Amino acid sequence: MTFKELTDSIVAVHHSFLRRELPAISAQLEDLAKDLRHGNEISEAQSLFKKVRDKVEAHLKDEETTLFPTGSALELGQTPPQAEFDLLERLASMEKEHDNCGSSLKLLVQMLSQLPASNLQKTLVTSVSALSQDMDEHVRKENTEVHPRFLELLGAGGKSRS
Ligand SMILES: [Fe+2]
Ligand SMILES: [Fe+2]
Repeated sequence: MTFKELTDSIVAVHHSFLRRELPAISAQLEDLAKDLRHGNEISEAQSLFKKVRDKVEAHLKDEETTLFPTGSALELGQTPPQAEFDLLERLASMEKEHDNCGSSLKLLVQMLSQLPASNLQKTLVTSVSALSQDMDEHVRKENTEVHPRFLELLGAGGKSRS
């Protein structure tokens, strides 16, 4: 599989899933917050989810506008798009975000599991667990396949330009 095929499939499978699920889960959390039994716990869950969602949305944007097109262009021997940030630094911060996001989602599942049971609470536990599992698979592909290949392409592109 080429770098472009690999990253196109990650966007089609995992990024699309996130773009559908993140707003859906925000809406479910808002509905659950209307149930007054939950008090503080639900606002903590909401603010944790908001942090994760903001980070993930910025992360997807950087991958789709810069990281993935740069790797694909280098693979074809074309000029990559102008990056608005240092690619190596951003790659390292992305790996940290992968770790942090995975642990935040696992914590969120725990927090939601401890809320009083209701249909909506169960739906949310199921949605966030599915999100967390999909994120693990997504991050595994990027950490083990996309990032190492990107570094190789960047090295090769650097050499051919000099
Ligand atoms: Fe991604
Ligand atoms: Fe990523």
